[in-house]
Amino acid sequence: MRMYDLIEKKKHGRALSREEIREMISGFVSGDVPDYQMSAMAMAIWFMGMSDEEITELTLAMADSGEKEDLSPIRGFKADKHSTGGVGDKTTLICGPVAAALGVRVAKMSGRGLGFTGGTIDKLEAIPGFSTEIAPERFFALVNRVGIAVVGQSGNLVPADKKLYALRDVTATVDSIPLIASSIMSKKLAGGADGIVLDVKTGSGAFMKTMENSVKLAETMVRIGTMAGRTCTALITDMDVPLGHAIGNALEVREALEVLQNHGPADLREVSLRLAAEMLHIAGKGSPEECFRMAEGALRDGSAMAVFRRMAAAQGGSTEYLDGLAAGAMPEGEASVSVASPADGFISAMDTEGIGTASVLLHAGRSKKGEEIDHGAGIILRKKYGDRVKKGEPVATLYAADPALFGEASARFLASLTFAPEEPPARQLVYARVGKDGLQDLSPVV
Ligand code: URA
Repeated sequence: MRMYDLIEKKKHGRALSREEIREMISGFVSGDVPDYQMSAMAMAIWFMGMSDEEITELTLAMADSGEKEDLSPIRGFKADKHSTGGVGDKTTLICGPVAAALGVRVAKMSGRGLGFTGGTIDKLEAIPGFSTEIAPERFFALVNRVGIAVVGQSGNLVPADKKLYALRDVTATVDSIPLIASSIMSKKLAGGADGIVLDVKTGSGAFMKTMENSVKLAETMVRIGTMAGRTCTALITDMDVPLGHAIGNALEVREALEVLQNHGPADLREVSLRLAAEMLHIAGKGSPEECFRMAEGALRDGSAMAVFRRMAAAQGGSTEYLDGLAAGAMPEGEASVSVASPADGFISAMDTEGIGTASVLLHAGRSKKGEEIDHGAGIILRKKYGDRVKKGEPVATLYAADPALFGEASARFLASLTFAPEEPPARQLVYARVGKDGLQDLSPVV
């Protein structure tokens, strides 16, 4: 195989065979296929797409590129949950403990923030002492004892994705259905869970900006998961508006704790409970509606909060710090500035990618791979989509260790808001479910 010929083939939209895909991935991992050729291939895939068969083969070749987790030492049904990436998306911190409190085993491998989107590992590391690097035996023991543990992707799990994602991040090739589907599903298959719930975000703060592409991505991932013998469902959820009010790692943990204490923002609560309900449903605990009610119960009776606290303590996190955040304390050592509305009217649109970028400018996320982040930095939204504002009224508060960062971040934040004289239409939070039997439209649970 000459990589040059494969790039040429894909550039003209022709399908790669199973053998060609396998050789390409093993050559890339071993270093025989250089980064510049793999980058050219990623761009060819971005433009020309891949058939269902090619995406499946790419996913399986990537999943086979390293070690695989064997979760058999964990007793019971093991559910995993994965989001395609969003802004203010702290749902794992809520739906994981809720599902675990109701008897599902949550052996969760999570990632760090990517581009303008946040990552669960960065959020948990905002808790002093919280360790996300745990040896497999201890990980299994923690899940058996607590019901949930959240760790970073272990060393040699899907090395093909680690290398390819780093290239995609710097070659503008992240937002491609074949590349996202194979990246996520290779990790989920190698991660070894019995069931997988996918949260496919749609809108301005998602990698998939249109409903059509989000549905296609969800269908592709569910098809691969089902074909690989896993129970797999996807919810398509709104990311045209940041989820909740907090963006930034410690601020998001604080907001997740509010929901776990049975209050907090209604949008975050609903999406988290719907995801928890799917995790319970695939574990055979009841219909999605029954599971939603059970999930509400785990917030109401404090059992989900107790699981979160136990998980944090078991992974070395400071419960004193958590108790402070739960009581409303703000992260320490940050300067803050209020951002004022430049206009009267209603907020009629939020460019959520722009808001995520503003949080990165405050150092809540990384501009470059491997960069240190400031766990206390971020944004609290004082007003959101549909809210009426007066000129000069605060729309957000920005937090950063270095006040010199506020100028550019405020400008980026304000450029992300659109104002209109009329109240905009109400939004739906969860649009659809994609299961092995296809797409089902969803209306809000009342
Ligand atoms: N999350 C991933 O793990 N991979 C992608 O390609 C996009 C989001």
